[in-house]
Amino acid sequence: MRILFVCLGNICRSPTAEGVLRALAAREAPELPLEVDSAGTAAYHAGEPPDPRTQRAAARRGYDLTALRARVIEPADFERFDMVLGMDAENLRVLRRRAPAHLHERLRLLLEFAPESGTRDVPDPYYGGPNGFEEVLDLVEAATRGLLAHLRASVR
Ligand code: 4NP
Repeated sequence: MRILFVCLGNICRSPTAEGVLRALAAREAPELPLEVDSAGTAAYHAGEPPDPRTQRAAARRGYDLTALRARVIEPADFERFDMVLGMDAENLRVLRRRAPAHLHERLRLLLEFAPESGTRDVPDPYYGGPNGFEEVLDLVEAATRGLLAHLRASVR
């Protein structure tokens, strides 16, 4: 099972989701044949590690994002990944424009897997205050739990 998380810059939200799902799956479902990656719809930060604020907030909860590097989503990703999960509605709109129609069923919102969160979008924390990074982690932790449960059920 190959999962790709997508946000705008690939330095805040989607690398957080990548790191959190990796850690969660390693701890709770090491038997799942899972491949996890992330990408951005924009190239501004390609090649860069996650934003220092993202890294610090993640590290405080035990997630190490230091090895990640930003990249832009490319056409082959829509073939390669079984699920391509946008972090907000704008990401999903861009994905729908770029993906071939026959692969649109692979495109979803991450927060579909956290219906109890009461929102569909992981808010972009880039221009906001420190609380935004905590909110990203809260939403991502809830949704990756739901996603992992979904993945486990789908292999049963
Ligand atoms: P991300 O956050 O999409 O969660 O990685 C952003 C990172 C950079 C920018 C916007 C959002 N930017 O405008 O450079």
